[in-house]
Amino acid sequence: MLSYQHGYHAGGPADIHKHRALASVLSLLTQKDRPITYMETHAGRGIYDLTDEKAQKTGEWRAGIGKAERDDHPFWNALDLVRDHFGPDSYPGSPLVAQALLREQDRCILMELHPAEYAALAEAIDAEVHRRDGFEGVLALSPPQPRRGLVLVDPSYEVKSEYMDVVDFAKALIAKWPEVVLMVWYPLLPDGRHKAMIEALGGVVDEVRFPQHKGRGMEGSGLVILNAPYGIENLFQ
Ligand SMILES: C[S@@+](CC[C@H](N)C(=O)[O-])C[C@H]1O[C@@H](n2cnc3c(N)ncnc32)[C@H](O)[C@@H]1O
Repeated sequence: MLSYQHGYHAGGPADIHKHRALASVLSLLTQKDRPITYMETHAGRGIYDLTDEKAQKTGEWRAGIGKAERDDHPFWNALDLVRDHFGPDSYPGSPLVAQALLREQDRCILMELHPAEYAALAEAIDAEVHRRDGFEGVLALSPPQPRRGLVLVDPSYEVKSEYMDVVDFAKALIAKWPEVVLMVWYPLLPDGRHKAMIEALGGVVDEVRFPQHKGRGMEGSGLVILNAPYGIENLFQ
């Protein structure tokens, strides 16, 4: 579905949960010198302006990056780098969070289907950016070289069938690339439609609830990680 635009939600509490976890996993994977491949199925536009009409309309960022407290987490290094370059009101999407942690020897391959989001992404980042269906594109390029690596799956879940599409994708990906670290984000909705997906996926689960949202749409943010790297127990802090 291409009606979803992440600009309405950028920097919100779910982004903080997802982007901190992403920075943690990448920090673990880049501890050794060996290169990695980082891929995304649904990359978004890469950079967001929190003063623009979309971000101002929902104001979601106020409850997210607007009140996040600085600590020694690598997420903040990524934010600082992005804000040095794009200005103090900018907020990084997952590709730019990842880029801040990747090294010269690593590869970054991003899929984004929406034409305008794709164009903005291709301009914002120096990476292999494809305007292509994310599941099809990542499967077609897997296993990549280097073979150590992480795939982030972050669809909009506007259509109920997307939950099971994620499961089908994960099975197909692991069949082609058994050692891939696979990280899937999902919303916690009142009808609990994510439950069948995470049961079918297995893996390490981390969920954050947003008490102020109870009964009003998305009640929290979830992540499931398959083939989680060693050290993951310190991840969700
Ligand atoms: C939730 S947003 C991604 C946010 C981003 N991962 C981040 O954290 O900054 C989902 C994105 O997927 C894109 N999209 C929708 N359908 C797609 C598809 N079949 N393949 C690739 N991208 C798609 C949308 O245009 C949107 O930009």
